[in-house]
Amino acid sequence: MPVHLYGHPATMVELQAICTKNDLLLLEDAAQAHAASLHGTPVGAFGLTASFSFYPTKNMTSGEGGMVTTDDDNVARMLRLLRNQGMEQRYKNEVVGFNTRMTDIHAAIGRVQLQKLGAWTKTRQDNAKFLSDNIKGVVVPPVAPGATHVYHQYTIRVVDHDRDAFADELTKCGVGNGVYYPTPIHRLPSFGLTLDLPVTESVARQCLSLPVHPSLTERDLETIVTAVNAVASAGA
Ligand SMILES: Cc1ncc(COP(=O)(O)O)c(C=O)c1O
Repeated sequence: MPVHLYGHPATMVELQAICTKNDLLLLEDAAQAHAASLHGTPVGAFGLTASFSFYPTKNMTSGEGGMVTTDDDNVARMLRLLRNQGMEQRYKNEVVGFNTRMTDIHAAIGRVQLQKLGAWTKTRQDNAKFLSDNIKGVVVPPVAPGATHVYHQYTIRVVDHDRDAFADELTKCGVGNGVYYPTPIHRLPSFGLTLDLPVTESVARQCLSLPVHPSLTERDLETIVTAVNAVASAGA
């Protein structure tokens, strides 16, 4: 289950080849990547299924809930059964399912948000371009050839400074920021793993997300750039 993390499509061509070779199912986690694409193919169209989140912090929301895409009729039917207590017909439970139905009220919110997604995504991309063109002294988010990044997050890597001190300095300058996934999965006690993943751990110590949302003004963007560049050059 590759994750299109922060709105950037995962390496789907390579992963599809591995799955085909080893007879594995490919399920996409597209929770953060509405409208992202790779070589013209939208995420959600690569795997047997893809799940999109409509949680309020995502690029579009229905208030709560999400969506699964698939082009397999049997999978679609099974998902519909699982969503509705295992039933297609009332009291004819075919499998043990759940109540994960989306309410009409949430769907109504989602339909209106969907109409706005295109313009919001373009604004996110424009905001990200301004940041990447002007920020110095940190690693800005790379975009793979053929990829359309939708910038659920704009995540830099702070390589030459202590990331947490860097974040504190930005906060003092009035620039909101966030560290997503400070503890890598293999270090979470709930997984009970003992793995040595030095690259993962190093990246987890460096990542810092900056504001990129569509409501930022030009002045906000300039404030972010000025603050990041000042903190980077001061050696926080
Ligand atoms: C990468 C990723 N996967 C899965 C989820 C779960 O989505 P939801 O909160 O809609 O269950 C989220 C959102 O929190 C996410 O960011």
